[in-house]
Amino acid sequence: MADKKAQLVIEGAAPVELPILTGTVGPDVIDVRGLGASGHFTFDPGFMATASCESKITYIDGDKGVLLHRGYPIEQLAEQSDYLETCYLLLNGELPNAEQKAQFVSTVKNHTMVHEQLKSFFNGFRRDAHPMAVMCGVVGALSAFYHDSLDINNPQHREISAVRLVAKMPTLAAMVYKYSMGQPMMYPRNDLSYAENFLHMMFNTPCEIKPISPVLAKAMDRIFILHADHEQNASTSTVRLAGSSGANPFACIAAGIAALWGPAHGGANEAVLTMLDEIGDVSNIDKFIAKAKDKNDPFKLMGFGHRVYKNRDPRATVMKQTCDEVLRELGIKDDPQLELAMRLEEIALTDPYFIERSLYPNVDFYSGIILKAIGIPTSMFTVIFALARTVGWISHWKEMLSGPYKIGRPRQLYTGEPQRDITALKDRK
Ligand code: SDX
Repeated sequence: MADKKAQLVIEGAAPVELPILTGTVGPDVIDVRGLGASGHFTFDPGFMATASCESKITYIDGDKGVLLHRGYPIEQLAEQSDYLETCYLLLNGELPNAEQKAQFVSTVKNHTMVHEQLKSFFNGFRRDAHPMAVMCGVVGALSAFYHDSLDINNPQHREISAVRLVAKMPTLAAMVYKYSMGQPMMYPRNDLSYAENFLHMMFNTPCEIKPISPVLAKAMDRIFILHADHEQNASTSTVRLAGSSGANPFACIAAGIAALWGPAHGGANEAVLTMLDEIGDVSNIDKFIAKAKDKNDPFKLMGFGHRVYKNRDPRATVMKQTCDEVLRELGIKDDPQLELAMRLEEIALTDPYFIERSLYPNVDFYSGIILKAIGIPTSMFTVIFALARTVGWISHWKEMLSGPYKIGRPRQLYTGEPQRDITALKDRK
């Protein structure tokens, strides 16, 4: 992969030759692993121009608004596939045939229950704890229950841990919600599909088992697909970094959940609804757009902008279509928040500030409106994101551990004090 070279000329030093590596598609990379010999580090806070690893899982072309999972466009997966098929694809590299799919669905179904003792773990949390705080704790605690699959160097252990996490995240997410509501937790049912099962555990009670709307189940499954993976985003990079130390998969996923929680990342879907409530009415949009443009105001337009997409986020386009479908199917006309969101998008996308910075709606802009229509409370939005992204996180974790890797250990540009001696306390000013 290295037939081209870059030459770095450093004043007063011999030029450094660095190999250029070429992938299947996308930008070439300059392999700087040999740069240390020159006595220099690269410097790239926020990793604006850094490829942290080689991967075959997801490809994003930010300029063209392209998102591929193992080569398949997200639009085709959202339209023609389902979430468990997408999980199989991300984990194994190919779409399953009918037999492989049946086997995978059955295996996942048979791992949806969690250890009964895990229920008492919840009692340590306040009922009004943020669901993401509980999710971080409970998922991290899974390593206290599944000792039999923690040898990260054993491919079978990696495989069973991946399936256990994909299977149990909906159960845990629903338990988090039921705990916050003071309602009994519901057991998963093997006669329901993945998305139906999640909605069953979320909204049914032992007193009444209502059938799950196929419209809502399909919308939920679509949302899971759209959030499944996204290359080396902050939370996925966190999972890889945690995994590079040899930490067990449950601890790594808990680290990913913590990173996802931030409003600049997965917490944005919850922040969008909060922002729409704050804006309240179309007449206030201009005031909030001015705030978003004001450098002295920390306010940002939630659900807008992206580190990679400098064109439309293809997931936002599918999400908007899904939003229209779900609201129409539910007979929700003129949803005020949707109206406000559409007007906000319209105004923002005609404003030079947003145009010059290529700030378009991202995956989080419309997802909250659908989740709300499905009946999911705002505080659970990022938990849904974490549920869906678990397969992406664990696919990257598996990919890293399946080949040679090193512990991630970045260096720094030190601008602190040079070496100095301690002054005795009695002599300090
Ligand atoms: C996700 O990485 C991924 O792939 C993440 C994700 C995934 O699937 O894993 O796609 C999921 O996290 C989507 C993003 C959700 N976050 C939000 O919607 C929060 C609002 N967006 C911003 O915080 C911001 O756009 C980021 C964090 C998403 C991207 O930030 P960058 O790449 O660091 O860009 P930046 O902050 O340097 O912005 C560039 C310019 C700045 O202005 P200038 O300094 O050039 O004058 O654009 C401005 C920013 O101030 N800007 C915004 C803005 N986003 C960027 N101004 C107002 N509102 C915004 N939303």
